[in-house]
Amino acid sequence: MPSRNLGTTRWAIVTGASSGLGQSFARSLARRGHSLVLVARSWAPMRELATTLTTAHPGIAIHVEPMDLSRPGAAPALMDALDAAGIAPAVLINNAGRGLSGPLLDQSASDLRDMIELNIVSLMELSQLAGRAMRQRGEGHILQVASMAALGPTPGLAVYGASKAFVRSFGEALHAELAPVVTVTTLMPGLMDTGFGAAAGGYEAPGWARATVISPDAAAEIGLEALFARKSSVVSGRLNRLMALLSPLSSRAGQARMLARQMRA
Ligand SMILES: NC(=O)c1ccc[n+]([C@@H]2O[C@H](COP(=O)([O-])OP(=O)(O)OC[C@H]3O[C@@H](n4cnc5c(N)ncnc54)[C@H](OP(=O)(O)O)[C@@H]3O)[C@@H](O)[C@H]2O)c1
Repeated sequence: MPSRNLGTTRWAIVTGASSGLGQSFARSLARRGHSLVLVARSWAPMRELATTLTTAHPGIAIHVEPMDLSRPGAAPALMDALDAAGIAPAVLINNAGRGLSGPLLDQSASDLRDMIELNIVSLMELSQLAGRAMRQRGEGHILQVASMAALGPTPGLAVYGASKAFVRSFGEALHAELAPVVTVTTLMPGLMDTGFGAAAGGYEAPGWARATVISPDAAAEIGLEALFARKSSVVSGRLNRLMALLSPLSSRAGQARMLARQMRA
C-alpha cells in the first residue's frame, strides 16, 4: 500500500541523522516529499546527505542543525533555532540514541548520565515542545525510536535497556494522550548493522541474534508506515515480532539470567 504523502511543505525533524537509522529515515521522508531538519553532532555527514537529497528531490529544503542532544537545554535550544528560522515541524523522528555496553560497576558515571540525557531527557523534552506546536496547528506525527531491549531486562546493556523501556512506556502513553490530533508511534527495532555497536563501546550481540538483523532502510520504512497509519507501536522484522510475542511467556528473571550468562561467556 502506498504511504500517505504529507505534502512538500511539511518539515520533519530527524535526530541522529548523521548515520545509521537516522539517515534511512531522512532518505525515506525526502522520498515522501518532506523538507528536513537534520540533527546530530557530526556536521559533515549531514551536509553530504543534504546535498544528495536536495539533488535527488529538488522540491524539498534541508536545514542542518549540528547539536549535542545530551547537553542539558539542547531540546529548547533546537526548537528556538527552528522557530527563528520559521520552521514549524509537522513530523518529529526521535531517533538519536546510544548504548553503553559492559557491567554497570565498570562504567563511567558521566557517560551514563550523558546517555540518559540523550535517550530519555532530550527525547521527552522534544516530544513536549514539538507536541505543543503540533497541537496548536491541529496535526502532527511523532515517532519514538525504542528498541527490542525495551521488552525485558538487558544485563550487559542494563542502563541502555532501561532507557529504551522508558521510551516505549512514554511513547505508548503519549499515543493515547495526544490522539487524535498528534499521532505518537513507538518503533522497536531489533539488531541493525549501524554505528551503534562501536558507539556503545564495542557491543556485540550474541551469535543467535544475528539471524534477526534487518537493514536500517527496512526498519525506517516499517516505522514510518506505522506512524502514518497511526499505530501505537511496531516491532521491525518478522523474527523480532515473533520474539516480542513469545517474550511474556518466559519470566523476566529467567531472561535476565540468560543474558547475564551470555555477557560473561
Ligand atoms: N543498531 C541497532 O542494532 C539498534 C537496535 C535497536 C535500537 N536502536 C536505536 O536506533 C537509534 C539509531 O541508532 P543507530 O543504530 O542508527 O546507531 P548510530 O549509527 O550510532 O546512530 C546514532 C545517531 O545518534 C546520534 N547521536 C549520538 N549521540 C548524540 C548526541 N549526544 N547528540 C546528538 N546526536 C547524537 C549520532 O550522531 P553523532 O555521533 O554525529 O552525534 C547518530 O546520528 C538509536 O536510538 C538506537 O538506540 C539501534
